[in-house]
Amino acid sequence: MDDIFRESLYNRLRDWVLQAGEMIRSKIDDPLAIDTKSTPKDLVTQMDREVEIFFATKIKQFYPEHAMLGEEGYGDYLTETNGTIWIIDPIDGTMNFVNQKKHFAISVGIYENGIGEIGMVYDVMNNQLYSGLLGGGAYRNDQRLQQLNPQKTLDTSIISLNHHWLMPNRIVDEKYLHKLIRDVRGSRSYGSAALEFMHVAEGSSDAYVSMQLAPWDFAAGKIILNEVGGVISDTDGQPVNVLENSSILICNPSIQERLLNDYLLPAKK
Ligand code: IPD
Ligand code: CA
Ligand code: CA
Repeated sequence: MDDIFRESLYNRLRDWVLQAGEMIRSKIDDPLAIDTKSTPKDLVTQMDREVEIFFATKIKQFYPEHAMLGEEGYGDYLTETNGTIWIIDPIDGTMNFVNQKKHFAISVGIYENGIGEIGMVYDVMNNQLYSGLLGGGAYRNDQRLQQLNPQKTLDTSIISLNHHWLMPNRIVDEKYLHKLIRDVRGSRSYGSAALEFMHVAEGSSDAYVSMQLAPWDFAAGKIILNEVGGVISDTDGQPVNVLENSSILICNPSIQERLLNDYLLPAKK
């Protein structure tokens, strides 16, 4: 993608993300139609659908040659990363949106031939827009994010985890995760994978581990994280494919080896 096109796409995406955020905020106290998907805890609301339709309509109108992958199914079915692909989670943290009316984000990543070009994660209720542009750095609103601290150690780290490793069908030896929680300075779980990525990117957290994420949960975050020197792999240390579900480890590179070798690889049964 050439620099001029990337810049114009970035500006347009920023306008759309801010508009979608305003749409959500303006209706935040309206009654919600809540449905469930794969399980009773897997929620979707009419707002998730409205926001995804908003992006799908804009993309079709302005970039009919681009493809879109969206959580709520208003995009395309994709098996290959050829061309330009928008990967969209209209509301990441729907449970927070429903129960708390905060701590959720709009997440959009744009990839060209499998390469992450532009990522945006918008913390809607805090009006904080995180963005990253391939080779152009990462930002929180207009403030450039620093490169991650290369001296970080595990005992001074905060680690975020999601609850999936506690599920009975997850094949994980829990004693290694218990040890991890004891060995780090603190652990957190905020309920929005996209925002967890941003905490690592801004250095307010040092790692995030999830046993299962979908492309729309991590596509934007991966691009922003790369711009500050953060690293991403699955929990075996292997590269992730942006079109496939995956376990995820993201972190400051200075603690990656220890997280993998001392905790996550031995935790595999
Ligand atoms: C979920 C959130 C949550 C993570 C789940 C995701 P959704 O996304 O990111 O933090 O633990 O794995 O599915 O369903 O709210 O878009
Ligand atoms: Ca999500
Ligand atoms: Ca979602």
